[in-house]
Amino acid sequence: MSYKNKQIADTAQVLKSEFDSIKDKPAIMRSTTLKALFDAIKTLPPEERAAYGKEVNELRQELQRWIDGTVAADNTIEALDVTAPYDANTPLEKRPRHLPSEFGSIHPLMDELDHILDIFYRMGFEAVEAREIDDDYHMFGSLNFPEGHPARDDFDTFMTTEKAADGKPLVAPAHTSTMQNRVLKAGKSKLENGEPIAVVVPGRVFRNEDVDARHEHTFYQLEGVYVGKSITVGNLMAVLKTFMTEYYQKDIELKTQPFYFPFTEPSFEFAISCPFCNKEGCHVCGEGWIELLGCGMIHPNVLKEAGIDPTKYTGFAWGVGFMRMAMIKYGIDDIRLFQSGKLEFLRQFS
Ligand code: DAH
Repeated sequence: MSYKNKQIADTAQVLKSEFDSIKDKPAIMRSTTLKALFDAIKTLPPEERAAYGKEVNELRQELQRWIDGTVAADNTIEALDVTAPYDANTPLEKRPRHLPSEFGSIHPLMDELDHILDIFYRMGFEAVEAREIDDDYHMFGSLNFPEGHPARDDFDTFMTTEKAADGKPLVAPAHTSTMQNRVLKAGKSKLENGEPIAVVVPGRVFRNEDVDARHEHTFYQLEGVYVGKSITVGNLMAVLKTFMTEYYQKDIELKTQPFYFPFTEPSFEFAISCPFCNKEGCHVCGEGWIELLGCGMIHPNVLKEAGIDPTKYTGFAWGVGFMRMAMIKYGIDDIRLFQSGKLEFLRQFS
């Protein structure tokens, strides 16, 4: 860091040169050298105090960072921001003002994800991260979509022109269900030891969607997979109800209707009672219910494909768009805001 005020710049230089040899580093913060800089504030003409005070504080923060070890004390070369929108030789005073990184915050969606995972950890689930590039087998084949089946078209999947080793294109996963086969295979030994497979899989997914306030081409899902002995639809509903109630901190009712997914049998579309109006109908839900996710009992063919005997074990799975969940929770009316990079949106959550 470079300081404009000579006294501050000189003090910084002295403290830097001595830093390594000082044993009691935290004592630097109480040192007379630093105190003298602060004491000098009172002696300055009022119009100079603010700028001077700001620099002294910056020095104090810099010293604290050295002491905390977050920045190497001997790092006297200013870091070069290679992403900066100007030539590195542009003089300081001509550079556009940078947004200071200390005002950054965790993206609201990642905050929500942490919160969601925390609920599932408490329910005994583990988390596995999804992939952002996958193959035809994990997107379709392992999930009981036969070759050429029309259900493949429901997923508007982006594919590469390049072919993978199986002669088929690679895919940008259109759902986190691409991870099911891997999670089931990896958990097989657990079942043999008498434990269930209980895994949630957050991931970024991609679809060739017409983008509008409710649809994004790139969005986030959380897959859930649970397999064990004598698992039924009742277990599925209990897990999802517990989760939704915990997430919205309200007593949530569930409604399901039959649906079709090749990888579950039976399959359901799942709606929750609107957490805002208690089913009376409002601008968030329309008629009191909000459709939120797809779920069902894992198809025997999907279990078999992963080497699990469907006559011994059963399980359920679901996939939920958690952007949608967060939109409902915070009354966000446009899904595009999440990835817009708009600071006025992001700052509401910082
Ligand atoms: N993959 C489905 C989708 O994106 C959602 C889904 C439905 C996931 C049923 C599941 C499931 O695991 O069992 O539309």
